Amino acid sequence: MSDDATNTSPPKRASEADDSRRGFLKVGVGVLGAGLAGVVVAPAVRALLWPLADGVKVTSGGEDFVVVGNRDQFGETPIKVDIYADRVDAWNRTKNVKIGSAWVVVIDEKLHAFSSVCPHLGCAVDYDGELGKFKCPCHDSAFGLDGAREEGPSPRGLDQLEFDEPKEGKLLAIRYERFKQGVEAKVKV
Ligand code: FES
Repeated sequence: MSDDATNTSPPKRASEADDSRRGFLKVGVGVLGAGLAGVVVAPAVRALLWPLADGVKVTSGGEDFVVVGNRDQFGETPIKVDIYADRVDAWNRTKNVKIGSAWVVVIDEKLHAFSSVCPHLGCAVDYDGELGKFKCPCHDSAFGLDGAREEGPSPRGLDQLEFDEPKEGKLLAIRYERFKQGVEAKVKV
């Protein structure tokens, strides 16, 4: 048998070249397919996520002042009031939803309104009539009538809420807001 008859190198090289072409085509088709899928799917996903994708505020409600009662009903013993507002998110508007509560108290004829949310981890703060102070049932933080932190792990005093100072006999309206928990500074969220 001659060397030429046993030499199989040239056909092998051709086959390798074919394999390489096929591999290249596969990658090319794959990349093209992924690109086309992106073109088709991306707008659909974007439409689905709108307005999240556009950075539009998705939930609102309670930013306005909400009437919680008549000025005259509040005194030196704190009264808890619930705050209701229309809640609007990206897809729904829900009317008259409870968005939170506040403690309202008069100290030296001056009105105070505190969020009932404990600044530590967010439990609902109660008023202890015997002790004459606000107490959080979760980790025993205590706050004075003026909202100042007195004991426990809360990093700050109760969060004062903004309100329209009413005249006697007029309605009290509070702006309910939420603040970051577990931090010393009062930071709106
Ligand atoms: S949540 Fe109020 S003390 Fe921890």
